Amino acid sequence: MGYGESIPIKTRREIELMRLACRHVAEILLELRELVEPGITTLELDRWAEKAIGQRGVVSSFKGYDPHGLPRYPAVLCVSVNDEIVHGIPGRRELQEGDIVGLDFGVSSDGYHGDSAVTLPVGRIDAEAQALLDATRDALWRGIEQMVPGNRLSDIGHAVQGRAEEAGYSVVRVFAGHGIGSRLHEPPWIPNYGKPGRGPRLMPGMVFAIEPMVDAGRPEVRMLDDEWTAVTADGSLSAHFEHTILVTEDGPEVLTQVEGSH
Ligand code: MF3
Ligand code: CO
Repeated sequence: MGYGESIPIKTRREIELMRLACRHVAEILLELRELVEPGITTLELDRWAEKAIGQRGVVSSFKGYDPHGLPRYPAVLCVSVNDEIVHGIPGRRELQEGDIVGLDFGVSSDGYHGDSAVTLPVGRIDAEAQALLDATRDALWRGIEQMVPGNRLSDIGHAVQGRAEEAGYSVVRVFAGHGIGSRLHEPPWIPNYGKPGRGPRLMPGMVFAIEPMVDAGRPEVRMLDDEWTAVTADGSLSAHFEHTILVTEDGPEVLTQVEGSH
């Protein structure tokens, strides 16, 4: 994966292609949101997303993704329910009233990727679950606010962690945000925690996927036998929000945001 390499700076043409890929991601995620209700299976959400991909003539960034030494990712969507943190594989599970469900989705168009995730309530959820969703979304936006030229890379994770911990939650350590472009995962690796003022300076033309995973309990992770699904070791609820963001002279441009997005 090469997270130690230098951080790519996108050309104007590359930025245009990324805007397009990211708009597809944002629009499909918004449409998926309407389907989330008690009784729908996680596989039905995946099937629907795969159809939308086909209709738009874009390509899944996730299906067939081949991390070294793991099985290929088998679906176009990651669906992570309750204590599942990320990378839940769609299947026969039916969503139930009171669940929270993370939808993580990415496509490429003309070879450039967009990546975004949102965690949603299924029907009515309790106040604690809602507070976790609100804090995690807010933590993402605190990180995004740091994406101005001249800031340092670690300012992002520091801001994310501060927001999550001030609410009494913990940030997952073993997964992180990432650069994104002609590959889904590019340098740099962007932890959701850390001291401020460290690492490379942010420059216009850098594009990052920022994706806090926040646990109501402790941050430790356990992997399921499918080798993809990550759950909280203590069984606590976990939420995940993600956007793909371009650093511009004027600050962050959230490429996966359209009207109505998280
Ligand atoms: N947003 C997730 C990530 O960056 C999605 C990856 S799913 C995979 O880790 F299949 F592509 F791995
Ligand atoms: Co991502």
